[in-house]
Amino acid sequence: MRIGVLTGGGDCPGLNAVIRAVVRKGIEGHGWDILGFRAGWQGPMDGLIKPLGLDEVEDILARGGTILGSSRTNPYSVEGGVDRIRAVVAEHGVDALIAVGGEDTLGVAKRLTDDGIPVVGVPKTIDNDLAATDYTFGFDTAVHIATEAIDRLRTTAESHHRALVVEVMGRHAGWIALHSGLAGGANVILVPERPFSIEQVTEWVQRRFERQFAPIIVVAEGAVPDGGAEVLQTGERDAFGHVRLGGVGNWLAEELAERTGKESRAVVLGHVQRGGTPTAYDRVLATRFGLHAVDAVAEGDFGVMVALRGTEITRVRLAEATASLKTVPLERYQEAEVFFG
Ligand code: F6P
Repeated sequence: MRIGVLTGGGDCPGLNAVIRAVVRKGIEGHGWDILGFRAGWQGPMDGLIKPLGLDEVEDILARGGTILGSSRTNPYSVEGGVDRIRAVVAEHGVDALIAVGGEDTLGVAKRLTDDGIPVVGVPKTIDNDLAATDYTFGFDTAVHIATEAIDRLRTTAESHHRALVVEVMGRHAGWIALHSGLAGGANVILVPERPFSIEQVTEWVQRRFERQFAPIIVVAEGAVPDGGAEVLQTGERDAFGHVRLGGVGNWLAEELAERTGKESRAVVLGHVQRGGTPTAYDRVLATRFGLHAVDAVAEGDFGVMVALRGTEITRVRLAEATASLKTVPLERYQEAEVFFG
């Protein structure tokens, strides 16, 4: 049997741990050949292949990024894209694919399975916004990086008695903002799920200044002011129709400086959150996902995604896994609100 594996969408720490687990169990447990496809769905579309043996996955467990490369290629928006995948898969005798990705990559995995190309999905995204799994790997690492940044920013903010706005990733879901904000003791946390009132944020910030402390405001890149719109870096859209967000942190810092008369600074953490070595938690979760994806292939259970429910790895249909996003519920946000101001 020959299996193809690919990583699609934004990279995230732990991808190499999945690849390693697939290769180790595929080869040593089942005697399969494993072909890596480079650059997400572009790999099987254009025949970009990297054979994966045991040597290729030595020493990659702790490495960030993905040895296969990634892209946001959508074969369904490329003329003849799916037929090209079909041809490459047939030419190389690939029996099934394991696709590691977020909502977009797994949405393609679902459609390909429906179109007769068997795929098993593995969920990844630092955003932790896939509904069918309790956690995605990459999230824990991103939260650690953001929390460490908040801890560091707090000491310089206190020295200068400034407001510090920390912009973190999170397009539609504020999980990174919520968890890093809670862990870092932020005085305001703003998430895409709850449009914010600039007057209320100003009040919380002022209250903090009045107590002679420097306020830390954590804002997700997709957060929007009441009646406002997302702040965009460019108007361009990727192959899945997503715009590039970024800029709400700078906007907020300027508004707060004007409204409070105090100095404010913004720090955009950006791709730092996605780089570098995965935490132990993410390495373990990614490894378990890889092992269970191999089991699904071995059982011929295609069109599924492996998922974490509690402490167990289960499987859900890709259709269900990609049907909706997991956003921050009101009750979780209200827990954090206790610490605002
Ligand atoms: O989907 C993961 C993510 O990191 C989002 O949080 C962010 O909006 C987006 O990717 C950034 O994408 P890119 O790396 O293409 O700029």
